[in-house]
Amino acid sequence: MTDFRKLAGKDINELIPYKPGKPVKELERELGISEAIKLASNENSLGVPELAKKAVIEHLDEMNFYPYGDAFYLRRKLSSLLEVNPDRLLFGTGSNEIIELLIRTFAKKGDSILSYFPSFSVYGIIAKAAGIECKWIKVKDDFYVDFDKIKENMDEKVRIVFLANPNNPTGTYISAEQLEDFMEFVNENTIVVLDEAYVEYVDAHDFPNTFRLINKYKNLISMRTFSKAYGLAGFRVGYAIGDKEAIDMLNRVRQPFNVNMAGQIAAEAALDDKDFLRKSIKNNREGKKYLYTEFKKLGLKYVETQANFILVNVGDGEKIFNKLLREGVIVRFLGEALKEYIRVTIGTPEQNKIFIDKLNKVLGGTQ
Ligand SMILES: Cc1ncc(COP(=O)(O)O)c(C=O)c1O
Repeated sequence: MTDFRKLAGKDINELIPYKPGKPVKELERELGISEAIKLASNENSLGVPELAKKAVIEHLDEMNFYPYGDAFYLRRKLSSLLEVNPDRLLFGTGSNEIIELLIRTFAKKGDSILSYFPSFSVYGIIAKAAGIECKWIKVKDDFYVDFDKIKENMDEKVRIVFLANPNNPTGTYISAEQLEDFMEFVNENTIVVLDEAYVEYVDAHDFPNTFRLINKYKNLISMRTFSKAYGLAGFRVGYAIGDKEAIDMLNRVRQPFNVNMAGQIAAEAALDDKDFLRKSIKNNREGKKYLYTEFKKLGLKYVETQANFILVNVGDGEKIFNKLLREGVIVRFLGEALKEYIRVTIGTPEQNKIFIDKLNKVLGGTQ
């Protein structure tokens, strides 16, 4: 009999698959309700930008063709908006694919990658599948990055350092000064990847100016996405900005038609929908303020966020997560290491209010 476990090998057997949030419709079906809300995956609660919808519909008749292999129009628009040379941009099926391309291109068996913990688990999953160790360096008690500890753990085997900034699931950030200090420390043959999936939401004044830094440090790569503030998570489009030679190497590994046609068209149109982006950022800022106030009223400690989600201490995260689920509110429980917490995506004002009412109820207060 075919032994698939044996064929896959030790590393694959040891992998714990990424667990996505439950679909809203599925929860509604299970509970027999009609108005469940999903605040679990840091998606954009304002929906899809109108200009993106319109553009995709207009181009439906072209879906018999393969997508533009080099994301021609999207690349042209983005390069002009960001004022970076087109050959410094790489597009992927979400930034998830770019993480995979980075690891496959620049890390080999016996090398390691490094990130901090807790952070985006996908770095470790992709590395392990390729037989590459991921060193997870615990954050400080306040959830901020411990650069002293990271420096202690840097050795010649570390090929890529993934720094989610802002970080998921904590919402904390690395300042310009911390990043520059680390870039001065790090060996030029170690690639530092700034995963800036939530960068559009940042309020902090001392947040790094990525464009200045990627021009200064050849080994620094920034990774961004259309999944969050641009409202296109389902279309799966992300991109990286880096040194021309780094992008050239990544392009050699990339599948020719990796970013689908609908995604390219939607992303290009979303870049024109400035109003949607503005509204998304404003909604997030106001929602954050509202949720902070309500958490304070409920006596709950939370981590101040630079992103579109908040990590909040509810005592018993798993219990509250399950109780909220039964009330039709999907949030995220993050496992043993963060067992007192849930992570909630900032929603529309209506969704935030429902979440707070239900949270109050499941915590034992009155609705
Ligand atoms: C820190 C971080 N990086 C990357 C991603 C992946 O985004 P994408 O949808 O572009 O693959 C996420 C998604 O939640 C994230 O939180």
